[in-house]
Amino acid sequence: MGEFLELAKSRKSVRTFDKAKLSDEVLNELKQYTRNISNPYDLPVKFVFLDKDENDLSSPVLSGEKTYVSGVIKKSEHAAEAFGYSFEDFIMHAHENNIATVWIGAAMPRDKFELATGLAANDLMPCMTPIGYAAKKKSLKETLMRKGVKADSRKNFIDLFFMDDFSNPMSEDKAEELGLKDALVSVQVAPSAVNKQPWRIVITDNAAHFYIKHDKGFETPDYDVQRIDMGIALYHFEKELLSEGKEVKFEIKDPGITAPSGVDYVATYRW
Ligand SMILES: Cc1cc2nc3c(=O)[nH]c(=O)nc-3n(C[C@H](O)[C@H](O)[C@H](O)COP(=O)(O)O)c2cc1C
Repeated sequence: MGEFLELAKSRKSVRTFDKAKLSDEVLNELKQYTRNISNPYDLPVKFVFLDKDENDLSSPVLSGEKTYVSGVIKKSEHAAEAFGYSFEDFIMHAHENNIATVWIGAAMPRDKFELATGLAANDLMPCMTPIGYAAKKKSLKETLMRKGVKADSRKNFIDLFFMDDFSNPMSEDKAEELGLKDALVSVQVAPSAVNKQPWRIVITDNAAHFYIKHDKGFETPDYDVQRIDMGIALYHFEKELLSEGKEVKFEIKDPGITAPSGVDYVATYRW
């Protein structure tokens, strides 16, 4: 197993924090890290650190948090996927340093967060995360939320991944044989909005083609929230292969594979 998969498997969303503030040293390290985050779409994401009390912010699903980080990207065709990739880089870096997070796209007073973040013309702030240390015990609200979205379970391998086309589900044995199992499991354990797991991947000779299976209710006027999930999946797949010492090349070039209705091509990693 590559190091990334181990890290990805141990990450869980945290919504109950221990009320402690992160030290300046920790905050500065995180801020420094965000300056070097990039994504395959080459669309910059700005990370804005917000003190909860100074900005009078809160979220109905969180308790005990003291700091938030919001992400900002300019409106453009692939903003959502690019945002997902870059913001997940931050989330995983925080996790590697034992700092708890949860992607929040809906459960916040959006106007207040956007005002505190300070958006310029054509800026989008798709999501934010609290950062801090997990409380010893989850709030009842958090426990119920996790149950509600079945946060601890994921779809089966054969529902998510395919060989050559969508009529041929990929078994874990076949993925292992191709040296892709850990990269695909890294996608399987990724976070997604309402745990819907919209990612589908078709493996061909030397490529992984990523598709989105749309669910209702995730479109906003400016972007599709599930395309953020797709960016997260791209990040997980690439990072696991990189941690195994393999390299992949990103491209957007529809391979023309017939996709089921409601499923659209997003991007490809080629090797
Ligand atoms: C783009 C995105 C938006 C999300 N928005 C919210 C949200 O508004 N409120 C919330 O409680 N969780 C939100 N989540 C967290 C998911 O519910 C969570 O990742 C999923 O249930 C899987 O649980 P896990 O992260 O512990 O593996 C969001 C996740 C993603 C990726």
